[in-house]
Amino acid sequence: MKKLAVISCVLMSICSMMSAVSPVIAENTETEYTIDDVKNLQDFLLAKPTEDLSGKNYDLDGDNTWTVFDLCLMKREVIPPDDEQENTLVVYFSRTGNTEKIAEKIVDFTGADIFEIEAKIPYTDEDIAYNNSTCRANQEQNDKNCRPEIAQSVDNFDSYDIVYLGYPIWWGEEPRIIDTFLESYDFSDKTVIPFCTSGSSGISTSERNISELAEIGTQLEGRRFSANADSETIQEWVNSLFVEVKQEE
Ligand SMILES: Cc1cc2nc3c(=O)[nH]c(=O)nc-3n(C[C@H](O)[C@H](O)[C@H](O)COP(=O)(O)O)c2cc1C
Repeated sequence: MKKLAVISCVLMSICSMMSAVSPVIAENTETEYTIDDVKNLQDFLLAKPTEDLSGKNYDLDGDNTWTVFDLCLMKREVIPPDDEQENTLVVYFSRTGNTEKIAEKIVDFTGADIFEIEAKIPYTDEDIAYNNSTCRANQEQNDKNCRPEIAQSVDNFDSYDIVYLGYPIWWGEEPRIIDTFLESYDFSDKTVIPFCTSGSSGISTSERNISELAEIGTQLEGRRFSANADSETIQEWVNSLFVEVKQEE
């Protein structure tokens, strides 16, 4: 939260500096925005380097500053909500609910469909008691070839273009049931976006495993969240992906 507050302050001061040097803002109803405008404004709000934006008409809500509200309005103009929702699926495995919370937020922000990977033989608390070296989760993670069975399958998997794939980190990697999922479907024309929660471990080993396990159309850089990641953090990430996905189309 502290970091976000600092970023917000920086954004606010950059926004006010910008409005001080910008020319008078034109009527915004005439402007047709493109995905490049969305990227420009997003980069500007994140204080990333941008081209010269003076003269751009990015004050969609008419309050004389460029804020995240302008970005949301612009995004809505560039991509109609229906287009956003139809082809996206959020798939997740979550034994203790942390990853599930993130998955649900992603659905809130994208309007995607959701699918929970559940094990045919559910994981009990004892199964995930990782201090016990012989617990089920530890045995599975120690065996690269283990493929726990999944209880249900995804309906109409072919109809999705974008698949967010969420999981907890178990011993530095994705749980083996994620490997089962990856080997159960054809991802060759999908954009796959991994995300995870963990105590502290990063996502990179699992990203590498995922890329080696399945032939994936496009695998975007994944993101690790803490169990209590706030909505703003998740939304910011989803927005940045939206730009990446659109630029690849
Ligand atoms: C078997 C097992 C192994 C774990 N290994 C790691 C690990 O290597 N690094 C880490 O940061 N967290 C580890 N954790 C913690 C989980 O990644 C973390 O609690 C996660 O948020 C749980 O997600 P979930 O509630 O969606 O199941 C482990 C948890 C379990 C049960």
